[in-house]
Amino acid sequence: DWTMGKFVDQEIARIRALVGDKGQVIGAISGGVDSTVAAKLMKEAIGDRFHAVLVDNGLLRLNEAAQVKKTLGDHLGINLTVIDAGDLFLSRLAGVKDDPEKKRKIIGNTFIDVFLEKAKQIEKEAHNTPQAGEIEWLLQGTLYPDVIESISFKGPSATIKTHHNVGGLPAKMDLKLIEPLRELFKDEVRELGTKLGISEELVWRHPFPGPGLGIRILGEVTKEQVQILQKADQIYIEEIRAAGLYREIGQALAALDPTKSVGVMGDKRMYGQIVFLRAVETSDFMTADWYNFDFQFLKRVSSRIVNEVDGVSRVLYDITSKPPGTIEFE
Ligand code: XMP
Repeated sequence: DWTMGKFVDQEIARIRALVGDKGQVIGAISGGVDSTVAAKLMKEAIGDRFHAVLVDNGLLRLNEAAQVKKTLGDHLGINLTVIDAGDLFLSRLAGVKDDPEKKRKIIGNTFIDVFLEKAKQIEKEAHNTPQAGEIEWLLQGTLYPDVIESISFKGPSATIKTHHNVGGLPAKMDLKLIEPLRELFKDEVRELGTKLGISEELVWRHPFPGPGLGIRILGEVTKEQVQILQKADQIYIEEIRAAGLYREIGQALAALDPTKSVGVMGDKRMYGQIVFLRAVETSDFMTADWYNFDFQFLKRVSSRIVNEVDGVSRVLYDITSKPPGTIEFE
């Protein structure tokens, strides 16, 4: 009979056998549940010979990189390097608007560039340590549904939008893939995470897309726009948690529309941008229903955002289901 305890032991034994006692593994982590659970399992199996890399693309949530560093590095003890590459991503995104696919490609390619450079550096350092082997393996937090989706290639998001994650990386780096979660469903990954001592908060985190806030800022992505959206997002998620609704919502997000609309603040007219709020209930993210907040909740969030975030004059709630609307805006 299958139990999580047995799975952990078997998987650790399998990883050790695959990698050997000198082999090195590298993996990109996002701070989300899948990559964190996969990373923790690697840490248990091979310790610091697993090298986790967080690419801070400047499009993460408010204080996200610092938070990940604290949880994964300090708390879970994973050998983690955070690369602050925000300026590079933003400079490559400058001037790009009305072309979501182009944004996704720029973010995806820049991610690969940054990650590859870091991988080479880690490999060089490993070469200087006589007892260390080559980096031969790339960790991916692929789940069973991802495996199915890429085999059948029927996933709406896979065909409609370019999903960057680490696609294309293994070939470029000449690495073999190690995928400890490839037989698990999401609920099993959560159970596994809990078993490995990962906090409840992290285990239940909503998904966050690889291109981050870049695909939630309609129009040009600039540092100023990122900062505005980070503040609005922070307020929204904080209020969702405070209302005890975080778990029953599958994913909640704020997006920024640069179209200006007129408002009044105090006795002055102001001309500001629009924040969209979206929240969905979903079992698999392939279809989703918009979440039915009560109006008092929406009223509270809206008034906080308009009052606390400079440059925003209006807040709208998205009542489009998927299909036809996707979960993200771009
Ligand atoms: P859509 O917008 O296609 O999103 O309805 C479905 C789910 O996928 C996430 N998503 C992404 N995740 N890289 C990711 O890692 C991406 O490029 C990407 N695009 C969408 C989205 O947040 C939702 O959970």
